[in-house]
Amino acid sequence: EVPEPFSVRMPLPATLKPVARSSTTDYYVMTARKANAQILRGATTEIYGYDGQFPGPTIRARAGRRVVLAQTNQLDMDTAVHLHGGHTPPASDGFPLDVIAPGKTRIYEYPNRQQATTLWYHDHAHHMEAEHVYRGLHGFYLIEDPAEAELGLPSGEFDVPIMLRDARFADDGSLHFVAEDFQNRTTILTNGRPQPYFPVAARRYRFRLLNGSNLRSFVLRLGAGEEMAQIGTDGGLLGAPATTREIRISPGERVEVVVDFTGREGSQVILADDHAGPVLRFDVGAPAYDASRVPAVLRPLPPLGEPDVVRQMSLGIDPQDFTFKINGKVFDPHRVDTTIRRGDTEVWEVTNGDTFTIPHNFHMHLVQFRVLSRNGRPPVPAEGGWKDTVPLQPGETVRLQATFTGPAGRYVYHCHLIDHSSHAMMATMEIVD
Ligand code: C2O
Ligand code: CU
Repeated sequence: EVPEPFSVRMPLPATLKPVARSSTTDYYVMTARKANAQILRGATTEIYGYDGQFPGPTIRARAGRRVVLAQTNQLDMDTAVHLHGGHTPPASDGFPLDVIAPGKTRIYEYPNRQQATTLWYHDHAHHMEAEHVYRGLHGFYLIEDPAEAELGLPSGEFDVPIMLRDARFADDGSLHFVAEDFQNRTTILTNGRPQPYFPVAARRYRFRLLNGSNLRSFVLRLGAGEEMAQIGTDGGLLGAPATTREIRISPGERVEVVVDFTGREGSQVILADDHAGPVLRFDVGAPAYDASRVPAVLRPLPPLGEPDVVRQMSLGIDPQDFTFKINGKVFDPHRVDTTIRRGDTEVWEVTNGDTFTIPHNFHMHLVQFRVLSRNGRPPVPAEGGWKDTVPLQPGETVRLQATFTGPAGRYVYHCHLIDHSSHAMMATMEIVD
C-alpha cells in the first residue's frame, strides 16, 4: 500500500562516477535492467532501471567536455537512449530504430557543446518508449559551466534535482501500465517515492524540477502560495529571475527555482499540485551558512534573428481512425518529413488542432528554441527562456524559433505526452548541409 504521507525521506538519485577520464572526455558505463524497488509499504515493485535504480543515476557533465556512455541492455526487449534537450550527433540521439538489442551495448557520445542546464535521459525505443519510461528508464543529466558557477546560485547539497511523475500500482505492488490509462495513474512519485519529506536548512535552495510523467501536467504551489524565483527553463538559465507563485510543468519540461527558507526554521512547507495534492514536504531545520544569491541578471538571451523559413505544424487525433498524427501523418521512421538547411533559423507555428480537445505538447530533438508567442501573445517570463518542450492546450498555437547549428542528420520531433509519441505522434526532420 501507499505509505502514510511524509513518512519516507525523498531520495536523491546517486551521481554516476566516470570509469575513466581523459583530458577531453569522461567515460561512463550504465546497464538497463530489471530490479525490485521499495516504493510502497509491504511490497516491492519490479521496475526497469538504469543500473537498476529508480530514477536512474545522475550524470554531471561539464560544458565543452565530452561524455562517452556505454549503455548495456540487460532487459529482454530493445531499448534506445535519448538525451532529452542535448545537442547530440545523430548516431547518439536515440533515434527510435537505433536500438540496443537485448544483451548488447551501444556507445553514446555527448559533446556537451551547450550551456549549463538540466537535461534528462530516457528510453526512446520505437513504439516502446511510453512503457519503458513509465517502468523507470529515466534519469537526470546535468550540464554545468563556469559562467553559471560564478553567479553564486545555491550549489552542492543545496542544488537538488526533483523528478515528479505519476504511476498506477496494482494490489500486488506492481506497476500497472495500460496506454491511455492516465485517469488511474493517481500516485505521484517524487524521486521515486510517494509524498516524501525532505529535510532542508533555513537557507536558499536550488530545485531542478523535471516532469517525468507520460501524460500528467502539474501546477505546483509552495506552502500558502509563497514566492519562488524561477531561474531556468529546459535549456538553461533565464535572462533574469522571474518571481512566481506557481510552476506549470508538462511532461518532459524542466523548471528551475530558488526557494528561500530563511527564517522558516521549525516549519513544514508543502509543495502541492492543484489536482493531485501534496507531492513533497520540506521540513525546515536550523539556519545554515548561506553565501548564495540570486543575481538580477542570470544569462542574457541573444537577440532573435530573422527566420529563413516559416513552417506550420499541427498535432491531432484523426477522428476517422483515432490515429495520432502530426500534419495528417502517423510516424514513419523511414520517411523524411521536414528537410532543414544546416545553419538556418526557422519559425515553427505549432497548433494543437485536436477535435477531441486533448492536450498535446511539442518537443524537438537537437535544438533549444525560443517561444515567440502563445496564441498571438508574447510568452510569460517563465516561458521566455530556452525551451525544447512546450504544452499545447486544445486550440492553442505556439510560435517557436530555432537555429539549426547542430550536426547534419536525421532526428525526430514529437508530442512528449509519450503515450502519444509511442502511438506514432512523431515525425522526422533531416538537417542537411
Ligand atoms: Cu524526451 Cu524524443 O524525447
Ligand atoms: Cu499528444
